[in-house]
Amino acid sequence: MPQNQPFKIKSYSPLGFFSQVLKDPAEFLLEKRQLHGDLFQFRLGMKNVVFVGHPDDLKKVFLDKKDVFLKSSTRSSFGNSVLTSEGKKWLELRKSAQGFFQFPNLDAMMKDVDRLTQESFKQFESKDHRTFSVGKYFDSLIETLVMKLFFNIEGDSNSANLGAKMNFLSDNIIKMGLFPKTPPKWFPLFGVKEFFTTLDDFNSLVMEKYDRALMQESKCPFQKFASFLEKDITERKDISTQLLSFFFAGFETTANALVWTFLQMNKNPEIKKQLRAEVSNFDLNNYQSYTQLLQGLPWTKACLLEGMRLFPPVWFRTRTAIETTELSGALIEKGSLVWVSQYVTHRHPDFWNDPEKFDPSRFLDESKMHPFQYFPFSLGRNICQGRDLAMLEMIIIFARFFQRFDTDLASSKDHEVRPLARVSLRPEKEFFAILRDQ
Ligand code: HEM
Repeated sequence: MPQNQPFKIKSYSPLGFFSQVLKDPAEFLLEKRQLHGDLFQFRLGMKNVVFVGHPDDLKKVFLDKKDVFLKSSTRSSFGNSVLTSEGKKWLELRKSAQGFFQFPNLDAMMKDVDRLTQESFKQFESKDHRTFSVGKYFDSLIETLVMKLFFNIEGDSNSANLGAKMNFLSDNIIKMGLFPKTPPKWFPLFGVKEFFTTLDDFNSLVMEKYDRALMQESKCPFQKFASFLEKDITERKDISTQLLSFFFAGFETTANALVWTFLQMNKNPEIKKQLRAEVSNFDLNNYQSYTQLLQGLPWTKACLLEGMRLFPPVWFRTRTAIETTELSGALIEKGSLVWVSQYVTHRHPDFWNDPEKFDPSRFLDESKMHPFQYFPFSLGRNICQGRDLAMLEMIIIFARFFQRFDTDLASSKDHEVRPLARVSLRPEKEFFAILRDQ
């Protein structure tokens, strides 16, 4: 075992770098990586955090030493779900949903995604709605899709509640994770009580939709999903948490990826023009499978991948070292909290030319990339189960949207949107776009 430790950034505050991290964690890590390299550590309250930024080390964390670097217990506020559990429980939950994400099912979902996307254009028919909030539009569309794909529910006014609650939970979950132990539900300070009340409300709403969906007769992708859940998970509480985790994993992430990429497209008109040319030449009414869609729309796919490079919706992950181990010749002590960041590694100057530039052509040939330099959907055994579904949704939405509309950002201030790094990376403020007449 080596004796040297990762470089330690000193802090004279009793809370370590707590306030800087809380203010802008993504920029904090980016700046510290530039100053101190790919492996360093710092104090966050009572915890020691080791940052890992080099793709070779990411391979160790997520693959070679996956049984040493485990999911951190700080994420337990949501209960036992595929996102938070480890070992036998995790495998059981992951397996229970596998069939839902496989190809025959995905191909069946394409039609709903396409139809509901086109229906969302009705809101633009009135002249008064030519200017729209980009975030609100994509949030509402993804919520509609999630409702349909998971619950087989359409046109349900109640569902707006779910989106708002989801955003609240996602804004506050990092704060909950900073408590040394999950606080009791009644704790009156720091918004704890409100967090758990919202979580309970959310759970009952989701289960109400689940029960309603089970009573329907039609055989749709959801029915298969429900039968996977029922077969492998016996406890109702686990079904509810599992559904919650799918909602959590699949809603804000996909909506944010669309919002960020849409912003970049509008800031780079030449790239948008190329995308519009590609989707105009593709017959969106006449493809049979997801594979055919991918083959026909390589530039659309590359734009979305590049959007998630610069603005990865899941911008960081944590793991805990359960034994003392080694990374890059340095000693990582047992119990260390390990942070990796898509936001930082996706901008690593040794792996990306001109990293701040939005350039989808990087993704037309990925053969020269380090296999661990790009990981918006994570890596290794916890790789996102919904990644094909997410790509399918996003490609269909972009293709339909840009085949039908051209857009501009509404004003010069809509070009200046900064990221807000919470549990996902979202725009700091609402921004607007205008539909251009064809
Ligand atoms: C652009 C959209 C998406 C992004 C960027 C994304 C990203 C990620 C990432 C980074 C992880 C790993 C979390 C970890 O390391 O603990 C993950 C896990 C997961 N995602 Fe996604 N995701 C997206 C969409 C979806 C969708 C649509 C679903 C469908 C429900 C989904 C379901 C899941 C599940 C079930 C896991 C847990 C996998 C496991 O721990 O075994 N995701 N996702």
